[in-house]
Amino acid sequence: MYTYSLALTPSCSPKTHHHYLKPPSKSTTLHSPTTISATAATIRTRKAHSMPQEKIEIFNSLENWVSHNILPLVKSVEKSWQPHDMLPDSSLPSDEFIDQVRILRDRTSHLPEDYLVVLVGAMITEEALPSYQTWINQNDGIKDESGSSSSSWAKWSRSWTSEENRHGDLLRTYLYLSGRVDMQMIEKTIHYLIAAGTDLRGENNPYMGFVYTSFQERATFMSHGKMARMAKEGGDPVLARILGTIAADEKRHETAYIKIVEKLLEVDPTGTIIAIKDMMRNKITMPAHMMKDGRDPHLYDHLGAVSQRLKIYSTNDYINIVEYLIGRWKLEKLEGLTSEGRRAQEFMCGLVQVIKRLEERSNELERKKELKGTKFSWIFNKEVMI
Ligand SMILES: [Fe+2]
Ligand SMILES: [Fe+2]
Repeated sequence: MYTYSLALTPSCSPKTHHHYLKPPSKSTTLHSPTTISATAATIRTRKAHSMPQEKIEIFNSLENWVSHNILPLVKSVEKSWQPHDMLPDSSLPSDEFIDQVRILRDRTSHLPEDYLVVLVGAMITEEALPSYQTWINQNDGIKDESGSSSSSWAKWSRSWTSEENRHGDLLRTYLYLSGRVDMQMIEKTIHYLIAAGTDLRGENNPYMGFVYTSFQERATFMSHGKMARMAKEGGDPVLARILGTIAADEKRHETAYIKIVEKLLEVDPTGTIIAIKDMMRNKITMPAHMMKDGRDPHLYDHLGAVSQRLKIYSTNDYINIVEYLIGRWKLEKLEGLTSEGRRAQEFMCGLVQVIKRLEERSNELERKKELKGTKFSWIFNKEVMI
């Protein structure tokens, strides 16, 4: 299904200049992807509007390219699925509708608690979509100036938002009907999260922004895919189909963002490789890193620990994505770079080795770690091992 087992050979030649690599700071110890992101939240100073003003012209000049190469990746509304297609049919007479809900509840009754925690985490992340649209629109050169702009960049970001909007709706309604989760606590978490916003460290720089979205869509595609398989194993093929359907959207979005970065590498290789290096050196912050439920002060880290243990999204996935993107964008073969660009290229070529070493250390710590029970409000304070 989602066999993204990538060869762990570095994409770049091993003769990379490791002396250019700054070892990650102590605060970036790889424990789980969420730990990576949690550290980001503690950093107070932020670079802003780091793209030089004159580069806005590059994005204007790509309008036509976006219209021919990216907008076709949007699915028309008429051909798109809608949440109601995969939910009990509310247009049926009450007793038939209730029968469908009963069947849904039977199916979800065997899903393990730890799985539900990660599924709820994914749903809450999808539900904070307003923050992501806000974030996209603070990128210089691609923002939707009027809210209904006819620019190709704006058309894409609105279409992306409208497609993403169905993900949270569908998962939320499904979980609500299941009766397995505490919707009031989940809704509080969403409320807190949207009010907190998100800080993805993109410097209002669309080069960095598109590197981020390439990474993030791929990560979501992979994790939804794994949750789909687990839903099937847990006796809920409908949930598996729901997650698989959402994962297919994420894959299409990943394709779009990867293509955009590929195009930027073609028109401005130095500017783009520096942005890739800056984004990766900062670490990719997961979008819902400011999540809280008002009860567990370490909710996000605890969620990350469950996800890591179930291997739904783990440090290994993080490394695989970095490695995949380096290969997909052919970063080792980039030519025509300035000296700063070459240094960024060398950084990227050595990055996989660096994070693998950190992963080995973190795996060792993980092995020694004793599992302990942690209560999650989303599942009525039941305990899950982390
Ligand atoms: Fe999504
Ligand atoms: Fe997505």
